[in-house]
Amino acid sequence: MQGDADVVRLEQIVKSYGGGQARVTALQGVSLGFRRGAFTAVMGPSGSGKSTLLHCAAGLDRPTSGSVWLSGRDLARIPEPDLTELRRREMGFVFQSFNLVESLTALENITLPFRLSGTHADRAWVREIVTRTGLAERVRHRPGALSGGQQQRVALARALVTRPEIIFADEPTGALDLESGRQILGLLREAVDDYGQSVVMVTHDTGAAAYADEVVFLADGRVVDTIIQPSAEAVARRMLGFGW
Ligand SMILES: Nc1ncnc2c1ncn2[C@@H]1O[C@H](COP(=O)(O)OP(=O)(O)OP(=O)(O)O)[C@@H](O)[C@H]1O
Ligand SMILES: [Mg+2]
Repeated sequence: MQGDADVVRLEQIVKSYGGGQARVTALQGVSLGFRRGAFTAVMGPSGSGKSTLLHCAAGLDRPTSGSVWLSGRDLARIPEPDLTELRRREMGFVFQSFNLVESLTALENITLPFRLSGTHADRAWVREIVTRTGLAERVRHRPGALSGGQQQRVALARALVTRPEIIFADEPTGALDLESGRQILGLLREAVDDYGQSVVMVTHDTGAAAYADEVVFLADGRVVDTIIQPSAEAVARRMLGFGW
């Protein structure tokens, strides 16, 4: 049975890529829950399976075996078109590389999810998101005319605008300077504290991990540890202990 405490629950997830000699097993039996209304950071060395874990949790990728539960629904039982719709409605994504549409303005990028699902944006809510992300003066610009930090705020605004239950972020501050990174982390924290959303964020940065309520450590496709209420120092110590 699924406890309501977890927004996403992974059970014995194995994910392999390729076949024969080239077969790589990115996740080797991961079981873990992402708590509803909490901010979870995922850390681990390069190649440890962090992005794969996020993709499986979000139904962007199907695991080789094991099951993923989203608010009590088994993702494997949901046909692809319905899964796409469910992702649009209930999930938001932020990637290291922004993934904005270059030909659209910031505002058009932010409201793209509505266009894709053929629904209407609530204008007051869009205005609030634009204000929260500090983009009011920039909404008519195209991504090429925005700084990296501004582009990532557009990406985050686009992820927030549908009021998703859960926001997945894969190294959202990886390409940003310290101050721009802090703004993004503050906004993710606010999504949890003020709006009750759940955030799952992959990061390599101990300072970023300290914004989370819980840190999950992955190594070689397995969960090797977790820290509750992490401080940057505790995270750094644990990483040293792992020899990372
Ligand atoms: N599409 C793919 N095809 C084949 N192998 C893949 C694919 N995606 C990931 N892998 C492999 O799976 C393993 C885990 O990759 P993953 O991208 O999840 O790591 P990561 O922890 O996100 O690393 P990084 O910190 O570098 O982003 C790696 O060995 C990688 O080479
Ligand atoms: Mg990755």
